[in-house]
Amino acid sequence: MGGLVMERKERIEEEFELGDEGEAVQEYEALTDDFLHITASLIADEVAQSLKGRAGVAVDLGAGPGSLVMEMAVRLPQFLVIGLDISLPMAQRGRERARAAGVENVAFVVADVHQLPFKSKFVEVIVSHGSMHHWRRVDIALAEIRQVLAEKGFIYMSDLRRDAPDAVVQKIAALLNERQARAFLNSVRAAYTIEELSTLVEGADLGHVRVEPEDFSRRTIMRNIEDLRRSPMRGMRQATTNLRLVGGGD
Ligand SMILES: C[S@@+](CC[C@H](N)C(=O)[O-])C[C@H]1O[C@@H](n2cnc3c(N)ncnc32)[C@H](O)[C@@H]1O
Repeated sequence: MGGLVMERKERIEEEFELGDEGEAVQEYEALTDDFLHITASLIADEVAQSLKGRAGVAVDLGAGPGSLVMEMAVRLPQFLVIGLDISLPMAQRGRERARAAGVENVAFVVADVHQLPFKSKFVEVIVSHGSMHHWRRVDIALAEIRQVLAEKGFIYMSDLRRDAPDAVVQKIAALLNERQARAFLNSVRAAYTIEELSTLVEGADLGHVRVEPEDFSRRTIMRNIEDLRRSPMRGMRQATTNLRLVGGGD
């Protein structure tokens, strides 16, 4: 029975390396171009399906150079999509990319998720990808989200999960260059498990928000099938490496 006993891995803190921000932006963009752009597209399709007939402000927490912001903005022209990031170079890069792509219903702000710069109930939709594991206090960020989210507001926050199977994590790391692999492995170790996040969400009084493995609807998969077939990650189920915190809106 030994093989079935799961080692309990302790979470490590991973601060985003602010010392070398310009380089971090470049490194992260390269990773996005090669691997992550499909995820932004999948998440944006999944979110857009849940937001039929709604309008307002959507905020991406820890937006980085803005891939998800842009994918959301083109699918949801009735929304202003705001990319929020603690790093000025990330926000600047997001602005440049949006300008170059001619996407107008976007804005980028520099701020900390632990202190959101929005009025109470101002935000209709909160999304996030790959950022939660960097946050010092997810409980404080969730309390801030509760404060700024409109009644019946919708949340979709996706991140790595620390309880991802080692074999899959190693397989992905092998596809990356050395620095990317190191960052990826650290991120997995800094990420939360579904159980840990469920406890945090329960304490945050966010209404009907659930924490679950990230899995996309058939409709979303079919819309992205060509990109998925071309992806180096093809055949790997997102649900084994990622979780999502999703709900509200009803
Ligand atoms: C791994 S990147 C993900 C970027 C983007 N969401 C994506 O999927 O391409 C994590 C981002 O979270 C941002 N971040 C980390 N801590 C933050 C905080 N406390 N408040 C706001 N942004 C934060 C970092 O600056 C970085 O851009």
